[in-house]
Amino acid sequence: MDLVLAILLVIVSLLTRGGMCGDRLLVNMTLVRRAAAIGAYCLDGSLPAYHIHRGFGAGARNWLLQFEGGGWCNDIASCAERAQIRRGSTRHMNKLETFSGILSNNATHNPDFYNWNRVKLRYCDGGSFVGDAKFNNGTLLLYFRGQRIWQAIIEDLMPKGLRFAKKALLSGCSAGGLASYLHCNNFNNYLPNATAVKCLGDAGFFLDSPDINLYHTQRTFFQRLVALQGIQKNLDDNCTNSLSDPKQCIFPQYLLRYITPPLFILNSAYDVYQFHHILVPPSADLHGIWNRCKLNPKACHPDQIHLLHAFRVEMLTALRSFLFNSSRGGVFINSCFAHCQSESQDTWFAPDSPQMHNETIAESVGDWYFGRNVSKKVDCPYPCDTTCHNLIGGV
Ligand SMILES: *[C@@H]1O[C@H](CO)[C@@H](O)[C@H](O)[C@H]1NC(C)=O
Ligand SMILES: *[C@@H]1O[C@H](CO)[C@@H](O)[C@H](O)[C@H]1NC(C)=O
Ligand SMILES: *[C@@H]1O[C@H](CO)[C@@H](O)[C@H](O)[C@H]1NC(C)=O
Ligand SMILES: *[C@@H]1O[C@H](CO)[C@@H](O)[C@H](O)[C@H]1NC(C)=O
Ligand SMILES: *[C@@H]1O[C@H](CO)[C@@H](O)[C@H](O)[C@H]1NC(C)=O
Ligand SMILES: *[C@@H]1O[C@H](CO)[C@@H](O)[C@H](O)[C@H]1NC(C)=O
Ligand SMILES: *[C@@H]1O[C@H](CO)[C@@H](O)[C@H](O)[C@H]1NC(C)=O
Ligand SMILES: *[C@@H]1O[C@H](CO)[C@@H](O)[C@H](O)[C@H]1NC(C)=O
Repeated sequence: MDLVLAILLVIVSLLTRGGMCGDRLLVNMTLVRRAAAIGAYCLDGSLPAYHIHRGFGAGARNWLLQFEGGGWCNDIASCAERAQIRRGSTRHMNKLETFSGILSNNATHNPDFYNWNRVKLRYCDGGSFVGDAKFNNGTLLLYFRGQRIWQAIIEDLMPKGLRFAKKALLSGCSAGGLASYLHCNNFNNYLPNATAVKCLGDAGFFLDSPDINLYHTQRTFFQRLVALQGIQKNLDDNCTNSLSDPKQCIFPQYLLRYITPPLFILNSAYDVYQFHHILVPPSADLHGIWNRCKLNPKACHPDQIHLLHAFRVEMLTALRSFLFNSSRGGVFINSCFAHCQSESQDTWFAPDSPQMHNETIAESVGDWYFGRNVSKKVDCPYPCDTTCHNLIGGV
């Protein structure tokens, strides 16, 4: 991630946290001891972990599982680095995690899921919970065991009540949003037929789109990720059988039609990660022509805005068939310079949260999950939306 964006995200998260200091819910980490038996390790060999807060009342038998996000590592050097920080090792993680937004236990802040069993799956494999490989050259040992971590966590949760779930929702943001697309069918297969299983991808709809110089930067990045982490065999068979390059099935746009449970796609059409890494990666802007625009959309040249709009159109085109033909699907594509809108309280459900057609994200997701209303919303192009919480251009 860009340093600048990383700093901005830290500032935003500090502001967000500061805002809810009074009644914030901290949840303890649970290490998955049985993971060792199936070789399900974090990059550095530490045990994987999750945080669970129990449901109660009418939600006592409903389960929300959320994949933590945090980018990827797709070569030995970046994975070796990652193995030494919290992104690749539970040894370096905070043991208490704040549950807010869709994970909040307060009906005022999270009207539909507050009383469910809520679980946050910690991300320590660098491959969206879907790799299965190992690197060992005698001096350096790295585990790429995301798929086994997913399996170990599910199997640990089963006897804790997941096997009796009435309703279930698999969610996640960013690399975790991608994980929720990739594991949606598998999650459904783990659970009884009678369980209502649905999936939510937040800021995980990474487009297979060329950058401003028409290089396929993201495609190349994902291809290296798939190869390094042994991901291909864990991608959906129906999808990999249908494409000439099976590795492409890591992109949600190709996988979409093969996902069986009802799916909700929550994304900004101007997602800041995609803007900074897919449309205008550093490699495509060596002279920094986009620097000011990347920090503040108001500083963008009309030509740059034009390219951003074209990216939005490309996203909507990739979603066309889902938008029109998926009767059980939900969509919330707003036009904010955002990234991850279900996890922090201010974007999920608060008086000034982002809205479309007078509905917040929490209300739209709830309408979809509980079938209260059709829930497919697509925003007008930037800058028409005045409800955004933008990560760039003033928070
Ligand atoms: C978290 O778990 C540790 C170890 O079990 C325990 O010592 C600590 O008190 C717990 N913290 C909270 C806030 O529950
Ligand atoms: C829920 O949030 C509201 C508003 O922030 C607060 O007044 C109330 O005490 C909270 N309830 C619980 C159970 O934490
Ligand atoms: C193992 O790989 C690491 C990272 O590529 C490298 O620094 C190290 O020299 C290698 N060790 C051997 C014995 O090849
Ligand atoms: C679940 O559904 C599948 C396919 O519809 C069916 O083959 C299977 O027998 C069902 N399992 C149970 C336990 O009902
Ligand atoms: C995927 O393939 C299996 C057979 O391998 C088939 O039963 C299933 O219906 C397919 N699913 C989709 C969504 O195409
Ligand atoms: C929706 O499905 C119908 C029937 O399969 C198909 O003809 C049509 O092209 C689809 N529409 C979109 C936008 O994909
Ligand atoms: C918007 O929603 C609020 C609360 O849900 C409601 O009070 C208000 O009347 C709605 N406004 C419009 C224009 O629909
Ligand atoms: C259902 O959604 C439509 C379109 O967004 C909206 O006009 C309508 O008011 C909603 N109905 C209810 C009961 O919320």
